[in-house]
Amino acid sequence: MAEGVNANNCAGGHALGPNQTVSDPRLPLSPMQIFKLKKNWKGVKRRLEDTGVEMLVRLFRLEPSTQVQFKNIRHLESEDKLRMSEELEKHAGKMMASLDDIVNNIDDVDYAMDKISKVAQQHEQFQGFTAQQFLLMEQPFLDSVRIILDDRYTENMDTIYRILIKFILSNLVKAAR
Ligand code: HEM
Repeated sequence: MAEGVNANNCAGGHALGPNQTVSDPRLPLSPMQIFKLKKNWKGVKRRLEDTGVEMLVRLFRLEPSTQVQFKNIRHLESEDKLRMSEELEKHAGKMMASLDDIVNNIDDVDYAMDKISKVAQQHEQFQGFTAQQFLLMEQPFLDSVRIILDDRYTENMDTIYRILIKFILSNLVKAAR
């Protein structure tokens, strides 16, 4: 299927089922996609820290200069050491708690945007951090969720997670400017 932010979006005004009317026009996901996302995310939620550790390891592999920005992690010189680090686990937990809050409330767009702004603001205090760096997390996120969910990561869920992470990261960039 063509990959587009509005793929399957029914924000035009179709009711999709009981209790599902239209999604907020700011949100590029249809009510059905939101329903599927929340259900599927439960598999990630059970392994939030593992997902976060995988994301950070993959971020540092993709862009090694980002590791230096994490003060308690910068000295760890191998992926094995990173995976065993309590500090990395702690950071993964904080990052994933934010993402979990955003996903659980994704259809309350005011709430989700407010949370996104708060996360963006937290990053302003980190020396050398630039808003564009948020975009580096797209592929690490998708790879990690795919690994954690295994056969629950279907093609349909891939489409939904791609739309979701683009939405979150692009709004983090906007909010951090
Ligand atoms: C999905 C995207 C991301 C989310 C939800 C997220 C979330 C968070 C949260 C909740 C914290 C803790 C803030 C605090 O303790 O005050 C944090 C810290 C931090 N984040 Fe992110 N983050 C994301 C992406 C990134 C990316 C791509 C970078 C790239 C460099 C980054 C760099 C940092 C740094 C350097 C810290 C401080 C770590 C330290 O205490 O040494 N974050 N992040």
